[in-house]
Amino acid sequence: MKKIGLLGFGTVGCGVYEIITQNSNYLNNKVEISKILVRDINKSRNINFPKEILTDNADDIINDPDIDIIIAVIGGIHPSYTYIIKALNNGKHVVTANKAVVSKYYNVLLKTAHENKVAFLFEASVGGGIPVIKPLKQNVKINDIGKIKGILNGTSNFILTKMSEESYTFADALALAQKLGYAEADPTDDIEGYDIARKLSILSNIAFKTTTNLQDIKCRGISNITKLDIEKFNHFGKKVKLIGSAIKSGSNYCASVEPILVDKTSPLSAVNDAFNIVSVSCSTVGELQFYGQGAGKKPTANAVVCDIIDILHDDFDNPICFDENLIKSEGMKLFRGKYYIRINTDSNFDIGEITRLFEESNIKINVEKEKDTLFIFTGLVSAEKIDNIMSSIKVRNFCYARLDDNKVIA
Ligand code: NAP
Ligand code: HSE
Repeated sequence: MKKIGLLGFGTVGCGVYEIITQNSNYLNNKVEISKILVRDINKSRNINFPKEILTDNADDIINDPDIDIIIAVIGGIHPSYTYIIKALNNGKHVVTANKAVVSKYYNVLLKTAHENKVAFLFEASVGGGIPVIKPLKQNVKINDIGKIKGILNGTSNFILTKMSEESYTFADALALAQKLGYAEADPTDDIEGYDIARKLSILSNIAFKTTTNLQDIKCRGISNITKLDIEKFNHFGKKVKLIGSAIKSGSNYCASVEPILVDKTSPLSAVNDAFNIVSVSCSTVGELQFYGQGAGKKPTANAVVCDIIDILHDDFDNPICFDENLIKSEGMKLFRGKYYIRINTDSNFDIGEITRLFEESNIKINVEKEKDTLFIFTGLVSAEKIDNIMSSIKVRNFCYARLDDNKVIA
């Protein structure tokens, strides 16, 4: 019988506890959750469990020689990172869903696990319940992986779906995502694309066999997208999705998180609510797609418990990535497309100044003005050029999104 110490007993922690204690036919007599770390041991919890296994002292778990496996499902970097490193150095296997820690300390965590001959597994950190990390680790051994693209955040996809299919306001859709347990403690990470950037960096590290730098992933979220934009997208037969993409070209790579306009008939358009999809372009097998529930208690806990099963079977493989910076970031250079831009103007607004900016950069545009709103539709342009122009415009209320006819320049 392997003893498990659970760090965190919120959405994911409770899901893990329920799977292990209730669906225990297979796991019966193989594992037992013996201690659980929480912040507040007196908090009322909507789950049946023996109260005496709760502690608010991490050392009770991490330094317990009887505990074999740690499940780390506390959010944020600190104290999670400290607990995980200590646990690995104490010779315990660690499973986590915490993508913030995995993406920030990827190399040092894998090195520490390798040195201590224990597993460091993080399937639930990307795509919630979707098994994507394990197949990626296997496939990269016999494939060159050139491109990763996906809807990688349940909360933002849920918000966009509710806004376009059920006319929810942004705030109401976010509140429902929080109630359903999809959102991060601070939902800014979901809405502004930072959560996707972390997941994309984890996938890129494995796929491109290097350590990517989070700061190199250009990130734009969905907080500027309004009902008016959604109506316009509908009118053009498009849906907006927040998409993370990473492309490797020779010894360079580009990665970004951007709102992308996809055809209503495209497979990406059918990925709704908190579902995620990841597409990976491989040299031998071709394109692989992974699809499933990207957030929430049961799917995420399912992925965590699958990692536990791999540890029980001694079937784990820590990707070794001791060579940092094997490939160099080229920013957004490899991304380009046509853009939809909406700018809310006021009475002092100079349309000529805006159009001049595009003309000076040799970007073809069509401009439509409706009351106080300017709509600009561009020709094919590099994502970098558009970002530069948009950051120089001195208006605050605007939104821009790229059409999904992405051409890779290289
Ligand atoms: P959550 O519901 O907010 O639960 C967090 C748990 O951690 C709570 O039990 C809390 O204790 C405990 N905790 C927080 N800070 C602590 C501290 N300093 N010391 C001890 N315990 C502490 O979070 P969650 O949604 O389960 O997410 C957990 C992790 O999984 C995060 O890294 C998240 O990004 C990741 N994840 C979540 C999902 C999802 O759908 N929710 C999916 C994939 C990955 P109290 O109960 O006493 O407050
Ligand atoms: N907040 C995350 C999401 C949880 O909405 O996708 C899953 O990683």
